[in-house]
Amino acid sequence: MSISQVAKTISESATLALNAKAAILRAKGDPVIHLGGGEPKSKVPVDAILATAGLLNSAEIRYTPVDGTPEMKKAIIRYTEEHYDRSVEPENVIASGGAKQAIMVALQAVVSPQEEVIFPVPYWVSYPEMVKLCQGIPVPAAAEDGTFYPRLQDIEEKVGSYTKAIIINSPNNPCGAMYSEEFIADIVDFCEKRDLYLIMDDIYHRLIYDSLKPINCYKYAHDLSENSKLIVINGVSKQYAMTGYRVGWAVANKKLIEVMTNIQGHQTSGPSVLLQKGAVGAINGIQSGVENLRLTLENNRNIMIDRLNSFEGVKVTKPEGTFYCFPDFSAYNKDSTKLAEFLIDKVQVVTVPGVEFGMEGHLRLSFCGTIKEIQEGIERIKWALDLNSPSELYIGDRKLVRDWI
Ligand SMILES: Cc1ncc(COP(=O)(O)O)c(C=O)c1O
Repeated sequence: MSISQVAKTISESATLALNAKAAILRAKGDPVIHLGGGEPKSKVPVDAILATAGLLNSAEIRYTPVDGTPEMKKAIIRYTEEHYDRSVEPENVIASGGAKQAIMVALQAVVSPQEEVIFPVPYWVSYPEMVKLCQGIPVPAAAEDGTFYPRLQDIEEKVGSYTKAIIINSPNNPCGAMYSEEFIADIVDFCEKRDLYLIMDDIYHRLIYDSLKPINCYKYAHDLSENSKLIVINGVSKQYAMTGYRVGWAVANKKLIEVMTNIQGHQTSGPSVLLQKGAVGAINGIQSGVENLRLTLENNRNIMIDRLNSFEGVKVTKPEGTFYCFPDFSAYNKDSTKLAEFLIDKVQVVTVPGVEFGMEGHLRLSFCGTIKEIQEGIERIKWALDLNSPSELYIGDRKLVRDWI
């Protein structure tokens, strides 16, 4: 089949593919435990439901302005004031089909063919593919010491004359690391000095633990004029458990927002009015659901880390945010794809191979499911890998016998 040069370079989203695989196994009746997921299980906030249903009942579901309804923009402006202590105007804001589209149109607006975009390792699976869709070059930057915490120097070493932008995602998918305030301050300052776009993917900024406080990148910007190249991304998917609403946004300088709007106008014409209505309901509504979710996730994290620490060879770094942890399983298998396949085949536990996030030997495990799923999932993984465990395991009334030693 004849397909475009760009399309040939794009691989399938590993995480979405695993979701599909888990759904097929479940439909067959297999007792699958999905530790690969990327969405909280809590209910959509009632304010969002009422707002969505109210509009739906009117039977008037129309096009909206490409960059978002006036009330959606107002809600984003209010959110930015409340969480970033920053006043922006409607022209500084675009609502998109999820944070994903907001990042994509931002990259399309700034990246020309062969220009480079840098992001720390491990990275969200979509960053390299999004950059490639712009015919740009993705440039992962690993921390020299092999940790999840790059220094400015690790990023700086990758910067060259083709560098156009840097993407920072903190707390980070897949490892849950929250970069230090000092690192954020340094990177903001560095991008200003080097005249680089800085895309701050803050989609998990309220889902952080151990009494940590969200870090506000604007605090460290010297230039907050319309020349600023700082782009802040957020959305309702994670904090309000509204992944299916597909509403996210970007806040940036007016010229850039205008360009992003032009691009989005020819792609999707912007997010659905119905779903923007729901997003506004969530942002302006009662916020206790966010704190409840945060507390639930913190407890889930503690349980998962506790269980993982009982593995002899597994190296775990405690996540400070998100709902993922990213243990190093290389003592068991250095090939994370093979390991993830082995775990699905042998004990029906879905994990995501670390290689998809730029770090081989690791697996991404989500703790956004139930405590039972976390406990049983880790128990099954341990049974499959730790040869000191008994040779039999019961999954419901099904007896598994370990025959791979
Ligand atoms: C780091 C990161 N950025 C952006 C997104 C996209 O979120 P949305 O559902 O708003 O498109 C995700 C979703 O998994 C993510 O993990």
